[in-house]
Amino acid sequence: STSHVTAVIDLDLPGATISRHLYGHFAEHLGRCIYGGFWVGEGSPLPNVRGIRADVVDALKTIRIPNLRWPGGCFADDYHWRDGIGPRHQRPRMVNSHWGDVVEDNSFGTHEFMDLCELLGADPYVSGNVGSGTVREMSEWIEYLTRDDDSPMAALRRNNGREEPWRVPFWGIGNEAWGCGGNLRAEQFASLARQYSTYVRDHGENRVYRIAVGANSDDYAWTELLMKSFDCLAKEPDQPAGPFQALSLHHYTMTGPWSDKGSAIEFSADEWYLALARAAYMEELLTRHTTVMDRYDPYKKVGLVVDEWGTWWNVEPGTNPGFLYQQNTLRDALVASTHFDAFHRHADRVVMANIAQAVNVLQAMVLTDPDTGALVLTPTYHVFEMNSAHHDASALTVHLRDVPSIESGGRELPLVSASASVKDNAALVSLANLDAESSRTVALDLRGHDIVARHARVLTAPCLNAHNTPAAPNAVAPADHHGIRPHSRGLEVDLPAHSYVTVSLELA
Ligand code: AHR
Repeated sequence: STSHVTAVIDLDLPGATISRHLYGHFAEHLGRCIYGGFWVGEGSPLPNVRGIRADVVDALKTIRIPNLRWPGGCFADDYHWRDGIGPRHQRPRMVNSHWGDVVEDNSFGTHEFMDLCELLGADPYVSGNVGSGTVREMSEWIEYLTRDDDSPMAALRRNNGREEPWRVPFWGIGNEAWGCGGNLRAEQFASLARQYSTYVRDHGENRVYRIAVGANSDDYAWTELLMKSFDCLAKEPDQPAGPFQALSLHHYTMTGPWSDKGSAIEFSADEWYLALARAAYMEELLTRHTTVMDRYDPYKKVGLVVDEWGTWWNVEPGTNPGFLYQQNTLRDALVASTHFDAFHRHADRVVMANIAQAVNVLQAMVLTDPDTGALVLTPTYHVFEMNSAHHDASALTVHLRDVPSIESGGRELPLVSASASVKDNAALVSLANLDAESSRTVALDLRGHDIVARHARVLTAPCLNAHNTPAAPNAVAPADHHGIRPHSRGLEVDLPAHSYVTVSLELA
């Protein structure tokens, strides 16, 4: 069956800039994300650049990866950076107690990570250790990375083979301090965040954007307490925020409790809707955290950084439970697009986001076969690629009318989700039909500009749980979409059941 939905878009009313950093990524020392994912070592038979897997880099460059968060996650608060520099064979070992209790040999450390970021053309986002580290350790790490004179840390870096300082624009002050990062109370962490941030210094030209641990999902009290710890937010609009510049937010999508989060590929239509309803809940989380932040910070000096988000399913049967390896279906793709719609709508406050994680862990972009090395792009990857014209474009409001909804998990889920942006006379409209069974036609009521050219693409598959494997790498892949035609108000677009469609418009 087909029902009609209208989307009114004023193409001449650009809103906040959608930072490209909303399309950021995350690489933790966890399972096969770093080792066997990004890092295969120089002796690997797989094509690599100084030990970094070349096809993984190419895949992420195609989606214009803007930044990469590292080394964790929970791992970050166990990590001591000095163990990961110098000759590889001399580096001390440690236990990765959070993730599989495996021995970490520190062969991927600071230099390897910065090399990876340079190959990717991505900005590094380093997560500093508050949970088990020291102020001095964090202070020396930023000096080591970014200082350009003969300071002790700059000299140590040169000794280890890197002459020029690196640019490090993003710095995490701890990770999940309310949980694995120290089990701290909000008051306690707020004080530590002020203290640690003070010593994460701007050396030379390098300007650091410091991101302190923010809330776990709907912990609005944590946000409130952290916001209270700022000085001068409500005063002059152009007075900088300090001592840190942003708060994070972590929220994962699953269909069951933590003890049984749901299967990545074996799910019912009800679980399809439940996952999407829980993904759409990001809208409420952003609205409510923003409301708290607005009260203390009317000029929006403090950013909200959703530096962990995505689906978290039960691990693939037969894989190490501590490695968080999961498949990725069409459902994951629509979970991702639903998040992006919310991020775009909140672009005035949400300045950055990092899906968890880039390779072989949770809602990954890329999966690699542990035996053959074969690389597969996931359905989620394709949403990042299809949305790439939103990077640094101006958000446009999409007024949706007559959208049917379904009740799932105590929430109403609208069955069409959309967002749009404009940049340099080009607009991109993203449309998802979350309906598991029915197609839908959307009338795009386009105001303020004439359209001189258009191109639509679609991501869908016959089954809800379609996914890509080495044997069928393109089971879910974007294709040109022909279900688009002129309409008295603009354009009419067919959305197949369970599909994602992007429409690129060239404006007069
Ligand atoms: O992304 C996996 C883990 O989820 C991270 O290490 C942690 O920060 C979060 O709990």
